[in-house]
Amino acid sequence: MEIIISPERMYEFSEQCRSRGQRVALVPTMGALHRGHISLLDIARRQADVTVMSIFVNPTQFGPREDFNEYPRPFEEDCRKAEMALCDVVFAPTREMMYPDNYNTFVSVENITERLCGASRPGHFRGVATVVLKFFNIVNPHVALFGQKDAQQVLVIKRMVEDLNHPVKIAVAPIIRENDGLAMSSRNAYLTKEERAEAGTIKRSLDQGLKCYEKGERNAAVIKNEITSILSRTDFLSMEYIEIVDTRTVRPVDTVPSPALIAVACRTTQSKTRLIDNVIAGGSI
Ligand code: PAJ
Repeated sequence: MEIIISPERMYEFSEQCRSRGQRVALVPTMGALHRGHISLLDIARRQADVTVMSIFVNPTQFGPREDFNEYPRPFEEDCRKAEMALCDVVFAPTREMMYPDNYNTFVSVENITERLCGASRPGHFRGVATVVLKFFNIVNPHVALFGQKDAQQVLVIKRMVEDLNHPVKIAVAPIIRENDGLAMSSRNAYLTKEERAEAGTIKRSLDQGLKCYEKGERNAAVIKNEITSILSRTDFLSMEYIEIVDTRTVRPVDTVPSPALIAVACRTTQSKTRLIDNVIAGGSI
């Protein structure tokens, strides 16, 4: 496995692959790799000849009071894990290479970034869209992999690619979970023992909501109530939002369409960790 730091070298590498007729896949990450990230690599490998994983903790997507400084950065361990998963290239540029002193250009995807995580994390998706487009320009992949875990992120990236006529294909991977249903996340490492013991409730509440939908319930308020009532019985989870939105507009619905995104965000009460999870009713994104 090759480790590339410089964007120029990365571009050159990718161009060489393309000129040999090889398909290039990109898996963008912020590192602290877990099985969720590795599952994206496995899918990428099946869709391309060369797999590139970017590892970059992107400062522009963190708010001023968020965990940019604390975010785990076990780079050597990540490289070992990527290599074990048969990744061909880890691309890990420095902050200065990505955002030099005179950096001034940002990508802002409008409307669909206003709700859900966009409401509680102002500027977050502007940072995500910007860094992802930069990676698309540097790596120029045929296909890029994103996890359904960050469903709004998927919708934002798909919108950006379509709106800006980028030729990359966006593929979406299912959510990888712990045994109790907790969606894998680099931030799960922040959880206290009590919080971790309770965190599986998030998925159980979503499953209950999905069960209502599958039994024919289409009133969003009823489904949301079902989920809220389960989450409100916990001791260490405080709900930030529970929303049922149209996957095209990311606007809340009264009557649940197909497909609909049922998304929750909680904050734990001890370590103040933000946990997000979702299910899609009646289809996929
Ligand atoms: P990060 O949180 O490291 O996630 C990288 C990718 O892994 C994302 O596409 C995310 O949805 C996916 N992922 C995370 N947990 C997952 C799980 N349990 N199952 C399946 N996939 C999972 O998302 C980001 O980084 C950043 O915003 C990034 C796109 C890299 C831009 O900086």
